[in-house]
Amino acid sequence: MRSDANIAGPMTDPVPGPRTESTGEHVSRETPPPMDDTPIGRAAQLAVEALGRAGEGLPRPERTRVIVVANQKGGVGKTTTTVNLAASLALHGARVLVIDLDPQGNASTALGIDHHAEVPSIYDVLVESKPLAEVVQPVRDVEGLFCAPATIDLAGAEIELVSLVARESRLQRAIQAYEQPLDYILIDCPPSLGLLTVNALVAGQEVLIPIQCEYYALEGLGQLLRNVDLVRGHLNPTLHVSTILLTMYDGRTRLASQVAEEVRSHFGDEVLRTSIPRSVRISEAPSYGQTVLTYDPGSSGALSYLEAAREIALKGVGVSYDATHAHIGAQSDPSMVEGMQ
Ligand SMILES: Nc1ncnc2c1ncn2[C@@H]1O[C@H](COP(=O)(O)OP(=O)(O)OP(=O)(O)O)[C@@H](O)[C@H]1O
Ligand SMILES: [Mg+2]
Repeated sequence: MRSDANIAGPMTDPVPGPRTESTGEHVSRETPPPMDDTPIGRAAQLAVEALGRAGEGLPRPERTRVIVVANQKGGVGKTTTTVNLAASLALHGARVLVIDLDPQGNASTALGIDHHAEVPSIYDVLVESKPLAEVVQPVRDVEGLFCAPATIDLAGAEIELVSLVARESRLQRAIQAYEQPLDYILIDCPPSLGLLTVNALVAGQEVLIPIQCEYYALEGLGQLLRNVDLVRGHLNPTLHVSTILLTMYDGRTRLASQVAEEVRSHFGDEVLRTSIPRSVRISEAPSYGQTVLTYDPGSSGALSYLEAAREIALKGVGVSYDATHAHIGAQSDPSMVEGMQ
């Protein structure tokens, strides 16, 4: 089922709940919002409308796009990008599945998905051949968004997979057997290039590389790109690096713009025009089991992820992107850099 209903009309309800930059209100972890049609979900819908394009919707891909979010460098924004892009695409009306392929389970946490040791998880899918449908859970507050969680069991999977048949293509097979209609699958990889990441690369068509705007941003990327080439050559001819996203961009620093320039000259059109600003709201959201889209829908972090999602959706169908809003993330006005004043 397509969830066009996500693109709602103008909202008249008050929007209590999520903390906002203007009021400083907090969401209590002890008072989770109701499951359906939540105030938080409606507040997030407001963010879509804030971009002035709610009625416009976004083109759906003809086939499910499987996007692997990878960079073996730690802490560059893989998980943050996976969950916030996924929520943004869902708020734009798509059906989206996040596969948490990192034993840390950070994506599951950020989506408010229970992932203690007994929860059926992506480990069971990879190692025990459990159908993916049996581990997928809906994400509270965001219609059309689902998650296959990771539990701590996954830490052993790198080793357990070694002796299994078709060890590199177990995730691919699980995805192929999954019958629910989906527009996007986003796979959050661990910060390594082991068998878990290889499974993601074999299962996907596209690689999205988040790059943190810091020194050594490109360090180690060569190894990832070589692995992408290897997987393309031997196991998955459709695989390609489709998207580079600049994260934690601080428009006040010369360093950030130098890194951005270097990345753009290296990767060209793969680099999204939208970049993601360094934002306190983005980093706070996971501790409330939320994406920034529901935690603070009007923040620059939320708006920049919505815009990045729009750019990705348009690129996927070959429509050129109108960069009017691309400045949301890449602005240089210091007052816009949240929490840094
Ligand atoms: N735009 C941003 N602004 C501020 N903080 C951010 C931003 N993006 C990510 N962070 C914070 O940076 C840290 C690392 O981000 P994240 O966990 O997404 O990286 P990762 O690449 O998934 O890390 P790992 O390699 O450990 O899986 C987190 O604490 C996150 O909240
Ligand atoms: Mg991560």
